[in-house]
Amino acid sequence: MAKRPTIHDLRRMKQRGEKIPMITCYDYTSAKILDSVGTPMLLVGDSLGMVVQGHDSTLRVTLDMMIHHCQAVSQGAKNAMIVIDLPFATYSSSDLPLSLKSAGRAIAEGGAHAVKVEGGRRMAEVVGTLVASGIPVMGHIGLTPQSIHMIGGFRVQGQTQEAAERLMAAALALEHAGAFAIVLELVPAPLAKQISEALTIPTIGIGAGAGCDGQVQVFHDIMGMYEDFLPKHAKRYAKVADVIRDAARTYVEEVRDGTFPADEHSYMKSREFSD
Ligand code: KIV
Repeated sequence: MAKRPTIHDLRRMKQRGEKIPMITCYDYTSAKILDSVGTPMLLVGDSLGMVVQGHDSTLRVTLDMMIHHCQAVSQGAKNAMIVIDLPFATYSSSDLPLSLKSAGRAIAEGGAHAVKVEGGRRMAEVVGTLVASGIPVMGHIGLTPQSIHMIGGFRVQGQTQEAAERLMAAALALEHAGAFAIVLELVPAPLAKQISEALTIPTIGIGAGAGCDGQVQVFHDIMGMYEDFLPKHAKRYAKVADVIRDAARTYVEEVRDGTFPADEHSYMKSREFSD
């Protein structure tokens, strides 16, 4: 059985040039499957607001919802490190006690091993506070979906010289504050590579090219389950929606025409009495 990676193992993986795969996960059954193939990191992402709950953003996800899903994931993942997103408005540089309380609940009630917070330099103080309390923190910069109404849409970040410098400065500030890794979302590949090379902690990219130290993808995108849209940076490794549709169609037909249930799926009274 693989050992659950620690934040120190992740840094060593970066030093060895070993890429770090991470997949989002929201339930026990999927966690067990992802764990069984040795996925080292699972993210209980607030993307569940979109792919599980069907909203058009992550903003309506609450801490209670995140904890609910994380508890299920932690039942299924015995070898992976579990990172949980702190959802919108449950942490802030202007309310450090709230940030600590939210992170503490995510770890103690959810069973996660680390939390993730979105935001650049302004998040350094939050990261420092949580780390000082013994909570490992992953940063998240570039496209930060919790600020979607400020950003004005899901678009590539860091495209001007000034924006690129801001992202580099944010990454360095988060590392300095004690973050153990940083997600780079929708960042031009050359800039993501530069940031990755400037840091000693691993970068985990999503839509940020191959120069990152690891990659994270949304489970429903890569399994072909979420059909509303497929971002350019996601690759479908399966078409699970088609498999489910075919199976459901056959089940519905068989119930209608009486093929299901057959005797083998039924409890025969006479047999039960004779046992
Ligand atoms: O919520 C999420 O799934 C995420 C990833 C896209 C990094 O934050």
